Amino acid sequence: MSFNNKYWDTAKNNLADTIHGHNTNATKTELFEKWIIGQNISFSPNWKILDIGSGMGRWSLWLAPKVKEVTALDISNEMLKFIRLRARNENIENILLVKSDINDWNINNKECYDLIICSGILELLKDEECEKLVNKIFCSLKKGGLIIFRDHIVKLQKTKNDFFFLRTRKYYTRLFSKSGFSLKKDIIAFTFFFDPLKIKKNTIIYGFLHKTYFFWQLFLKEHPPHIFILEKK
Ligand SMILES: C[S@@+](CC[C@H](N)C(=O)[O-])C[C@H]1O[C@@H](n2cnc3c(N)ncnc32)[C@H](O)[C@@H]1O
Repeated sequence: MSFNNKYWDTAKNNLADTIHGHNTNATKTELFEKWIIGQNISFSPNWKILDIGSGMGRWSLWLAPKVKEVTALDISNEMLKFIRLRARNENIENILLVKSDINDWNINNKECYDLIICSGILELLKDEECEKLVNKIFCSLKKGGLIIFRDHIVKLQKTKNDFFFLRTRKYYTRLFSKSGFSLKKDIIAFTFFFDPLKIKKNTIIYGFLHKTYFFWQLFLKEHPPHIFILEKK
């Protein structure tokens, strides 16, 4: 992992611009990704969720009102402070904040979570770190528990760019199946086809794109985020 907590403390302001509401395209993507997840998972009020590399809490803050408890784990104090502030403003009281490097994260409670979300984090890790983390995730999920994995994916294996490890779908599906997960859904976040504000009207288009997933993968030149939903059998 080439970025330390100081890097992420100072990256907070950039993330605020690109992810949390000021940049229109990023806001559209975020809305659309949440809609996709809502279409594919029925959240239960009893669930405990772990958000790994929670950043400024776009997932934790969205999920907390739907479930019993969300744990937001991040290496950066600044990110966690931001979540605390937003949770207070939005009267959300069920988010636990944990400052930790995921590489040092020890699973105290085995089989404790119903859902783990891992968004924008594996693409920052080396292969061996990814493998370790996915095994830890497997141990800390309940049987039948789900993982939402969301990252950018490329058609052919590429080397690391300045920021991400760009990996293939095959790499990630193998990684998860090796640890014992089964793939339930694999979705490309085709934001550019949608107006997220009219998202309900777009259900049919979404269904079509989803059914023709492999066809689209052949033609996409960009690497939009993918969302995998996997289950611990
Ligand atoms: C690209 S952001 C993703 C944030 C959020 N999950 C999202 O999807 O918007 C990566 C986050 O992971 C955190 N992070 C990076 N390396 C980490 C590590 N080794 N342990 C824990 N958190 C880490 C950073 O502080 C940052 O908040």
